[in-house]
Amino acid sequence: MAKQVSPQGLTWYQDARFGMFIHWGLYALIGHGEWVMHLEHIPVVEYEQLAPRFNPVKFNADEWVALAADAGQKYIVITSRHHDGFSMYDTALSDYKVTHTPFGRDPIAELAAACARHGGIKLGFYSSLLDWHHPAYRFRAESGLAWADYLDFLHGQVRELCTNFGDLACLWFDGDWPLHALDEDSAYFAAGGSFEYERLYDMIHTLQPDAVVLNNRHADPLPGEDIQGFEQDLPGMNTAGFNVGTVSDLPKEVCMTINTSWGYKPADHNHKSSRHLVHMLARSASAGANYLLNVGPTPEGEIVPLHAQRLRQVGAWLQTHGAAIYGTRAGTIPPTGETVSTQREATHYIHVLDYVSDGVVLKQAPTTIQHAQLLANGQELMLEWQGEDLLIVLPEDGRDFYNTVIELR
Ligand code: GLC
Repeated sequence: MAKQVSPQGLTWYQDARFGMFIHWGLYALIGHGEWVMHLEHIPVVEYEQLAPRFNPVKFNADEWVALAADAGQKYIVITSRHHDGFSMYDTALSDYKVTHTPFGRDPIAELAAACARHGGIKLGFYSSLLDWHHPAYRFRAESGLAWADYLDFLHGQVRELCTNFGDLACLWFDGDWPLHALDEDSAYFAAGGSFEYERLYDMIHTLQPDAVVLNNRHADPLPGEDIQGFEQDLPGMNTAGFNVGTVSDLPKEVCMTINTSWGYKPADHNHKSSRHLVHMLARSASAGANYLLNVGPTPEGEIVPLHAQRLRQVGAWLQTHGAAIYGTRAGTIPPTGETVSTQREATHYIHVLDYVSDGVVLKQAPTTIQHAQLLANGQELMLEWQGEDLLIVLPEDGRDFYNTVIELR
């Protein structure tokens, strides 16, 4: 039997409901997103020239953690190494790393310390399974290295991440897609080669018993994975085109961007409104999923001010509506055209996301419900059973611009 996260670790992760995703690396210097090396066909030797230019002097771990707290986020998942192969921490397994840049500091160690100082916010790590830089991943013929050498590196880095930074929220894997699109020897995988997940996940569950394992493979979860992830889509939807796995019984997480890019891309002005972000948080929670919302910091080490502002607006809504999100599970009252629901034991929260004229009409609400109030201020609302339908009157002045929440007991 594959090991799993501890029950308390899983409960913590589910209760947290809202996290900050951070895509940060050398690619920020170019500002075309984290796939730039591949998309613009930049040779390794040329891309490596970014490292001597990396000096994010404005980076301040306490400010990032304080922003996550202001946003109401309970955990931070940061790219320890993305597909470009550059490590954003002081790994002993490579010289291609942040401490060998003019910056010289280890931002991930600083974030871990800031999380510990702050309390209440856990750190987790994104780790890329593929590596466009590592000679044992990409250039085995030239380097004479073997796949086992790459596995040593990958598993060794995960061991470092699980050992050097205190208690983690999660290990978050990415980059295992059919035939790895970019792996020159995809034949290796076609012939059954693997990342040896069982060994990898067992190590994580042994070293970090409270950390969940998630693998963004867009496929059915494997043994040892604790959370099923969905990228740019709510569970069961596939607007992105690659969320083709069936929705499992596992707890879930939805990861999304604020504009359309993960890594820093100043030309991408397609920013979601804070109201939209609140809605995605509510819709995720109503589907039993965490909402992991991404920021792509600048090469100077700052979170884009517009994104910081939107995050704070979500946080302001959570100040008065957090009970409808944190610690909740998927709602059992079915959605209507205008509403979704979340639930904590016998308390139900109806999130009114669209305009309704007089109130809401719910179907299949538990017949034991006797009391309705606005979550924000406790104002009691008139309710009426009309046969099987529960009607709740929503006065004009009780409405919230972002999301009006009705608490039902
Ligand atoms: C995709 C992208 C990757 C990004 C990830 C985040 O898999 O390849 O760049 O990190 O989504 O979910």
